[in-house]
Amino acid sequence: MADDRAGFPLGRPARLAVFASGRGSNLAALMASFPPTRPGAAPAKDATVVLVVSDRRDAGALALARDAGVGAVHVAFGRDREGFEAAAQRELERHRVDLIALAGFMRVLSPAFAALWRGRLLNVHPSLLPAFPGLHAVRQALAAGVDRSGCTVHFVDAGVDTGPVIEQRGVPVLPGDDETTLQARIQAVEHEIYPAAVRAVLRGDAAPAAPRGGPG
Ligand code: GRF
Repeated sequence: MADDRAGFPLGRPARLAVFASGRGSNLAALMASFPPTRPGAAPAKDATVVLVVSDRRDAGALALARDAGVGAVHVAFGRDREGFEAAAQRELERHRVDLIALAGFMRVLSPAFAALWRGRLLNVHPSLLPAFPGLHAVRQALAAGVDRSGCTVHFVDAGVDTGPVIEQRGVPVLPGDDETTLQARIQAVEHEIYPAAVRAVLRGDAAPAAPRGGPG
């Protein structure tokens, strides 16, 4: 692929893709903040969601995207991560995507894909990273007995939930909380901080540190 990566700010509305495996409440929040453009409608202000990719054919996120008139693509993951990434990359290029937001995307992307999209690939995670990375973060927080958890939007790097943090916000863990109640409290905050974090990146106010290297 030609490396036409522009730094942020772009000087034009950004074209966003969302990768999601589940019901898509974060996708809905992102589409509310960065509405899909419809023919004849006013052009996007700062960004517009143009593509949703899911590894699950039955993901609620794909239905949400279709209802909103956004490109909605199922790409099988299976045992073939490279095949998924190549097919997703074709869609990303076809839709001229500038930035990808992972929103409940339950697959781990390769270090090569993370490097290709460095600074333009974001994820939301339901804990105050670096606490409780990986699967079942809300369950992990409850099992640890913490009185505060929260959520984090971060750049994706080669690790799992290890990339530079863009936005983070805490919520209390209340007596009697179970996974459902705590997750709902955290997700309500995700829906606020994810669009805010995307805006910060698009403004050029958040970026991963310069790669190491060079002489010496
Ligand atoms: C979110 O809680 C996010 O933190 C995690 O997966 C969940 C996705 O939920 N990575 P939804 O599909 O956006 O409702």
